[in-house]
Amino acid sequence: MQTLLDFTRSVRDGLSKPRQRELPSIYLYDEIGSALFEAITFLPEYGLTRADERLLRQYAPAIIEHLPPPVLVTELGSGSGRKTRWLLETLARREPVSYYPIDISPSALAKCELELAGLGAASIVGLETSYLEGLRNVASRRRPGQTLLVLFLGSTIGNFDRPAADVFLREIRQCLQPGDALLLATDLEKPMAQMLLAYDDPAGVTAAFNLNLLARINRELGGDFVLRNFAHEARYHKRQRRVEMHLRSKRRQSVSIREAEFTCTLRKDETIWTEACHKYRVEEIPGMAARAGFVCEAQWVDSEWPFAENLLIAAPPAATS
Ligand SMILES: C[S@@+](CC[C@H](N)C(=O)[O-])C[C@H]1O[C@@H](n2cnc3c(N)ncnc32)[C@H](O)[C@@H]1O
Repeated sequence: MQTLLDFTRSVRDGLSKPRQRELPSIYLYDEIGSALFEAITFLPEYGLTRADERLLRQYAPAIIEHLPPPVLVTELGSGSGRKTRWLLETLARREPVSYYPIDISPSALAKCELELAGLGAASIVGLETSYLEGLRNVASRRRPGQTLLVLFLGSTIGNFDRPAADVFLREIRQCLQPGDALLLATDLEKPMAQMLLAYDDPAGVTAAFNLNLLARINRELGGDFVLRNFAHEARYHKRQRRVEMHLRSKRRQSVSIREAEFTCTLRKDETIWTEACHKYRVEEIPGMAARAGFVCEAQWVDSEWPFAENLLIAAPPAATS
């Protein structure tokens, strides 16, 4: 659970970084940020959500075939849970479903519970907390013999840099038992212009999502960011294979944040880095899985927008590397 004190510290530490100022992407998702992210998922330029949904819709029966009943389902950073419906509906035809969406955004969780309320066969319990805290909570509720299915969709894994993603997958594995599953969605590399447009749409919805982080600091921490003095920027970092979202200072300016007792001066064109979205090659996923103690059992790739659904099965400890 992120407190106001955590937010204050993260903002002060991130904006004090000497080479590249940063703000953690977790704070993009207040009520307004979650609503703007939901709008992004409908943009024609943002193909990730539609690809994810097409794959889940088409391959839900194949995915579920790999999971011995009874299955307990949880989702890390569920957002609105719109795409998850396809898996839960398919599973509900086989057995009663328990689903635990985990999200730090209360408004995203409320939307998720509403979105999936019509699924008669499912019991849905939202957990407003961080990924691993939520996962540990769900793992502690499992009954003997249940298979735990963890969903991490939308290529949210891409927000972690590659070493941190390895660590995170290992931490997930530590919460699981052999035979449990992680369905990991990954956005794949594609032409640079297409990747950049997905994070810099002409209607400016992604720009509003990014700028809302400064507005949130103004609202919650007494900041005095003048939003029109900042511009949203999406960049591609070739070596790291990631799209980065930045906020560029359009002029030299000073900013103060009352709660953080913090003031800084930004140079003209200096940026604040707010989000990373790493891109993957389908063939690198089995290696990532093995390093974390999983076996990559199956992969499904979308034909319209390069994107993969990867089914990772927790390996017995002896088989982990
Ligand atoms: C990129 S969105 C993806 C939403 C949804 N899974 C999808 O595929 O469209 C990330 C979601 O994770 C949540 N989130 C971000 N960081 C989180 C964290 N550390 N712990 C829990 N939830 C987090 C956000 O509130 C947001 O709803």
